Amino acid sequence: MNSVKNTCKKIVADALKEYIANKNISGTFQQDFNIDENLVLQTPPDSTMGDIGFPMFAFSKNFRMAPVQIANEIVLIIKKNSEKDNEEILSLGEFLAAGPYVNVKFNKENISRLILSKICEQGEKYGSSLDGGNALLFGKRIMIEYSSPNTNKPLHLGHMRNDALGESVSRIAKKAGAEVYKVNIINNRGIHICKSMLAYKKFHEEQNDSPESLGIKGDHFVGKCYVEFDSYAKENPEVLKEAEEMLVKWEAGDEEIRSLWKKMNDWTLAGINQTYKRTGISFDKLYFESDTYLLGKEEIEKGLEQGVFFKADDGSVRISLDEIVSGEKESEKVVLRKDGTSVYITQDIGTAISRHKDWPFDKLVYVVASEQIHHFKVLFYILQKLNFSWAKDLYHLSYGLVNLPSGRMKSREGTVVDADDLLDQLQEAALLQIKQKGREEDVGNAEETAEKVALAALHYYLLQVAPVKDMLFNPEESLSFNGNTGPYLQYMGARISSILRKAKETGAKSCSAKDCAKMLSEVEEWELVKKLGEYPNVIERCATSYDPSP
Ligand code: ARG
Repeated sequence: MNSVKNTCKKIVADALKEYIANKNISGTFQQDFNIDENLVLQTPPDSTMGDIGFPMFAFSKNFRMAPVQIANEIVLIIKKNSEKDNEEILSLGEFLAAGPYVNVKFNKENISRLILSKICEQGEKYGSSLDGGNALLFGKRIMIEYSSPNTNKPLHLGHMRNDALGESVSRIAKKAGAEVYKVNIINNRGIHICKSMLAYKKFHEEQNDSPESLGIKGDHFVGKCYVEFDSYAKENPEVLKEAEEMLVKWEAGDEEIRSLWKKMNDWTLAGINQTYKRTGISFDKLYFESDTYLLGKEEIEKGLEQGVFFKADDGSVRISLDEIVSGEKESEKVVLRKDGTSVYITQDIGTAISRHKDWPFDKLVYVVASEQIHHFKVLFYILQKLNFSWAKDLYHLSYGLVNLPSGRMKSREGTVVDADDLLDQLQEAALLQIKQKGREEDVGNAEETAEKVALAALHYYLLQVAPVKDMLFNPEESLSFNGNTGPYLQYMGARISSILRKAKETGAKSCSAKDCAKMLSEVEEWELVKKLGEYPNVIERCATSYDPSP
């Protein structure tokens, strides 16, 4: 489709140039006016007027002519040329003046044949490269980080958006011809982890409680401990100090602390992995903060000697942010606490460095909530100050909040929406629909089908909104079998499969793209063929903007 569009554009541009030459208006014509740059391709709102169009407004001033008149003149030139010597023009379609536009009505059979034969020829690869060349991600090595949970609680609705985006952007980049490496950072170290551990020690250790003994998922149990800590700390603020002391011991490698830490982390990770399995999320490599923070510390020591960082009066190590912040934002960032322990950004320095060593990338995309825009700005700045040439290749794909319409599906603690609960409830609702429609028999295993419908509903709904925007997740709307929803697409997929199955049963043979193109007569068919022709462009646009929504 691109080459067709480019050819049309060139024909119009040539006609504009010919017009100037013929009229010899170069005296009045602004010499540095660039025809090609001012010629833009648009899609007419009503396809009966044409499949593509070129507005003539931009030329009006230079030509000293009304756009309508220019369009008429240009179409005359193109008609004259096509009669003379150019069959190609005729094969593309008809050029016509529609008010101030030069529109092209494609020759349906020829263009359909071009598009369909390309699809037949390329098969699964169709869409992986633009026919005009220059696909931006083609052959590039793209590392994509997403999900990245903390090990003190289970996944929540925000992670569902994160996971859907990360997984989708990865697949789109792959489709666009990139080599993709999917990574995750497990933030399993730090003060928040110590809080869950302290609560366990205080409220559960004596009874030797465990997820098994209580019959709950490991991540939910650890999350419960975290909540218990929070409410306890409200009455007894001195426990915060205890958590800090615990972190110092953890970093010093205290055996008892490390063993409790390991036990609780394993619980959480087992639970989180179960959710990943359920939602179909996978990674090529997991990074663990408990490993990478050490490299981060080393780099900070080096940077301290080089003067990138400085030691503040209170003993903490910091970097000045004067070059990148203004206004109320803090002008210094702590990278090591005064007690020597690491902070969140310490590990991110180490993690990025290990990643580039493990799998040198052309781009590293971090799918992380918009709350962390500042964090990534600072991180990228630090890595640049530390002279890593690839610091310029880091990109924060930031996404907005996702909420439920109020009153729906409150989580156990009533604050964040738990991912497992949400999935259960969506599955239940999908099952109810299947039952109400009396389709239990048709679908085979109703529970399994309901699960697939629920996941499609959730993922498709989350991906429809541009990442930057905050959004509401509306469970009922997402599950609708009508409209722009995941279940509707599944339904269409099933219908198409059944048509193909029946065609096979009746012994129908597939025909060549050429014959197929001859048979297409309906407006809807033509619109569909054009959509198929646009597919490589859509892939390219979504891939380079890291946005599955447009
Ligand atoms: N675990 C962090 C959180 O839940 C997100 C990690 C994002 N990725 C990163 N490389 N810092 O807030």
